[in-house]
Amino acid sequence: MEMKDKIEQVKARFQEEMQSICGTEELEKIRVAYLGKKGLITDLMKNLKDLNADAKREAGQQINQLKQQVSEFIAAKSSELEAALAQARLQQDTRYDISLPAKPVTGTLHPITIVQRELEDIFRSMGFAVEDFKEVVTEYDNFEAVNIPKYHPARDMQDTYYLDNGQVLKTHTSAAQNTILRKYGAPCRAIFPGRCFRNEAIDASHENTFFQMEGIMVGEDISISNLIYFMKTMLSEVFQKDITVRLRPGFFPFVEPGFELDIQCHVCGGTGCPTCKQGGWIELCPCGMIHPNVLTMAGIDSEKYTGFAFGLGLTRLAMMKFGIRDIRVFNSGNLKSLEQFTIQ
Ligand code: PHE
Repeated sequence: MEMKDKIEQVKARFQEEMQSICGTEELEKIRVAYLGKKGLITDLMKNLKDLNADAKREAGQQINQLKQQVSEFIAAKSSELEAALAQARLQQDTRYDISLPAKPVTGTLHPITIVQRELEDIFRSMGFAVEDFKEVVTEYDNFEAVNIPKYHPARDMQDTYYLDNGQVLKTHTSAAQNTILRKYGAPCRAIFPGRCFRNEAIDASHENTFFQMEGIMVGEDISISNLIYFMKTMLSEVFQKDITVRLRPGFFPFVEPGFELDIQCHVCGGTGCPTCKQGGWIELCPCGMIHPNVLTMAGIDSEKYTGFAFGLGLTRLAMMKFGIRDIRVFNSGNLKSLEQFTIQ
């Protein structure tokens, strides 16, 4: 028989067989019978070697075409059978009535979660990775790795909770800097929100448990103007208006130079009101250029790379955004208070 006829024969047979298929197992058998190692189509391929060049080319094309048709047909049939199966399963299942209207979702997000997610979205859109970090950390990560050596007076800036196993509750999100810098290397940009703990007396504006969001950006020409740009863009998104910022010198061992970033009061626009205690400016976010020691300790060449870091107080930001005056609301578990802060 001519090759062309053989191909036609296989095709006709396939079409006929496909008509009576009613299960996935059967379909699989047919797949193997045609496309498998010893399948009919594979067999046709093997016959090609006996043909001359021209005939080989022509038959080769025809076989390939058939092969493609058969694969497509089987794939389509397979989805069809699976859909039918799923539908049948649903109909047999009497536990659910899928035609009932859905109940509205109840519950609300915590105000800090709302602000955190909003910030994550903003930073993600600017190319920052979002990272999570432990709450129990080594002293090394919390202090040494961010340039606060043992017995350095700067350790007293943050009243630390020490655990029996020698580790600490992280006092700031900067404790993750070393790990994140090592993970990404240079260049990188990442934010890492997290819960922090400090041994503080609690009152309306102090908590021993609060949230921060750290951000870092490292690259070959990163400067203070990059820092200002990202902070301004992010804050303008959060407050939904143009925000003016200013930098004042601030000291933190892991940045050099270090700053306190203030925003012009978003309530009065700088003329003075109770929110800004009449000063026109609100202290918002410590930040600075990452100290070369911190880069070096994370294995990054501090001659080649520079970067900025900031430690945004998420709890503070949530208080400002929602006009919450008492920080104790956040950890109170008082649903009546917390449920007010829904966003759609
Ligand atoms: N980790 C500092 C703090 O909690 C804040 C900070 C972060 C300052 C990054 C500068 C750069 O007090």
